[in-house]
Amino acid sequence: PQITVTAHDNSTRTIDAAPGLSLMETLRQHGFDDIQAICGGCASCATCHVYIETPGVADALPEMDDMEDAMLDISFVRKDTSRLSCQIMVEDGMPDLDVVIAPPL
Ligand code: FES
Repeated sequence: PQITVTAHDNSTRTIDAAPGLSLMETLRQHGFDDIQAICGGCASCATCHVYIETPGVADALPEMDDMEDAMLDISFVRKDTSRLSCQIMVEDGMPDLDVVIAPPL
C-alpha cells in the first residue's frame, strides 16, 4: 500500500510500504524520525502515536487491543483516529493510508 505521511513540520510525503513490517518500522525506515518508538514496538511508550485519517479505513486495520487502548488513553492528544503505529502490521491488500504523526506528548 501507499502511505501518505504528514510529519510534525507539516510536510507530506507518500511512501510505498512493504508487507511484513509494522507501520512504525516502515515510517522509521523511510526516515520519519518524529516517530521515536522508544519501546521498540511493544506498545508501552506511545511515541509511535499516529492518526489514521483515511475515512472508513478503521475496519480494514488490525483491531486495537486493551494494551494499545490503555497506552493511548494516557495521551493528551488522543483522537478517534489515534493508533499506535507499532501495532499495525503492513499487509498485502491493506488499503492506502493517510497518516498524520501525532504531536509529541
Ligand atoms: Fe512504543 Fe509503539 S513503539 S508504543
